[in-house]
Amino acid sequence: MSVKTSSDLWWKNAVVYCLDVEMFFDSDGDGCGDLLGLTERVDYLAGLGVSVLWLMPFYPSPNRDDGYDITDFYAVDSSMGTLGDFVELVRTCRDRGIRVIVDFVMNHTSDQHPWFQAARSSKDSPYRDFYVWVDEKPPEKPGDLVFPDAETSNWTYDRKAGQYYQHRFYKHQPDLNLANPAVRDELAQVLGFWLEQGLSGFRVDAVPFLIEGVLDDPHQIIRDLRSYVNRRVGEAVLLGEVNLPAEQTRAFLGDEDGDELHMVLDFIGNQALYLSLARGSAEPLTKALSSYPKIPAAASLGRFVRNHDELTLDKLSEEERAEVFARFGPDESLQLYGRGLRRRLPTMLEGDERALRMVYSLAFSLPGTPVLFYGEEIGMAENVDIEGRYAVRAPMQWARDGGFTLPGVSPRRPMVEGAFGPERVNVTDQRRDPGSLLNWFERLIRRRRECPELGFGSLTLLESGAESVFAHRVDWEDATIVCVHELSGSPATVSLPVGDGERLVDLFDHSDHDLPATLQLEPYAARWFRVARTGVRLPP
Ligand code: GLC
Repeated sequence: MSVKTSSDLWWKNAVVYCLDVEMFFDSDGDGCGDLLGLTERVDYLAGLGVSVLWLMPFYPSPNRDDGYDITDFYAVDSSMGTLGDFVELVRTCRDRGIRVIVDFVMNHTSDQHPWFQAARSSKDSPYRDFYVWVDEKPPEKPGDLVFPDAETSNWTYDRKAGQYYQHRFYKHQPDLNLANPAVRDELAQVLGFWLEQGLSGFRVDAVPFLIEGVLDDPHQIIRDLRSYVNRRVGEAVLLGEVNLPAEQTRAFLGDEDGDELHMVLDFIGNQALYLSLARGSAEPLTKALSSYPKIPAAASLGRFVRNHDELTLDKLSEEERAEVFARFGPDESLQLYGRGLRRRLPTMLEGDERALRMVYSLAFSLPGTPVLFYGEEIGMAENVDIEGRYAVRAPMQWARDGGFTLPGVSPRRPMVEGAFGPERVNVTDQRRDPGSLLNWFERLIRRRRECPELGFGSLTLLESGAESVFAHRVDWEDATIVCVHELSGSPATVSLPVGDGERLVDLFDHSDHDLPATLQLEPYAARWFRVARTGVRLPP
């Protein structure tokens, strides 16, 4: 097992932690989280063991899409601090061994962005062609609307411009025209600016839309982006939001050597995971993973359980989606856009912590790069009283009284209440309890980081003999890990593959004994084993 390799291709052995600065920690008591507050909590993240911090947008914004509507690509929104605070954060993270990547929205700007204001003012403006304009509204294609609750078209007429402009998202987010080289140059300069602040890469928003409308070899845009970013900073990575069928998602990782994105978030695996959980059957996940195309050796898949948007189930069939809805969010108020759920996992599992741990153990044991969303490590729930997708973006729960801001101050969004509120779910209490979810996560993350074969290895799905058990092995060089996860909450019996002269060493309970080839699993069992072979020394 080569440690040199795992440090060179660092993103393949990383654990990413995504957060919204506004919702993490408010240092000055104005109800809005800020960069200074986050910097104060970097040691918490370091203690947890995460190695990459992914910041959701913190740029100046009218905030009509939680900051994904940007008015100035070169600054920090004053509610969250200053560029100086940003640099302090990045260097504090670096000191604690944490790299920082930031959300970068290249597909659109806010309609308040000076580029758009100039573009709509005159046909002669150099910014006119920064956006996509037409005289006649093109016919709508079914499925084109990303937010069908708010929009009825991807084209809006602008009186001042006298034309329609394109917007794949909200109408206040006009699409940039990436077919225009001047736009690509401007965006490259922005990326270069942020790399100079010490970043290790970007989470690239809405990737498939970037190449839409580019007729001649559309993927060249992504190749150019990759080579530009890596010319500026060799170690920087691009983690893309690509929610497409597996083959098309794979295409964004580039050729065999991987000349496009370094990583894509795995929406296909994520949706199959929820179908497997809803059914208590390994089959959907097995099917999704076994049919996933081979990815370049240096690329990786971002493995998330829950992200910051709706939990989209759009790639499942209608019947499959109905099964997941029925199991995890039957009430329509818990669903969104007819395709997703606005809950976090703990409530979907009705607070069953055994099941919760099993799900994260499974996600962390699959080849790929685990991605956590803030609060998952303490079992935070959603607040359904918060509008739409933002239900899962409630303030972080630090202490029994919330601990997010100063006493008596109302956070920008209301905290979670009830059984999952801060009185019962918070960092301070869990830090003091060795058996807490938080401390379990710390052990899980440490284990995952100590098993680079899980990031680098090749996956073989194993026939477990029990429908509810997902069993797999991962091989990398001379190392092998075998994992079993029980998905239905019932006891099961599985046969583990053990060859001559091999033993299985449990990676969590430290047992080091010859396991019987047949193992009795308790409900929601989650076990990782390293295969010990005669004459080969195992890591601790
Ligand atoms: C991405 C983000 C989402 C945002 C949208 C528009 O899908 O994940 O939160 O609303 O892009 O920028």
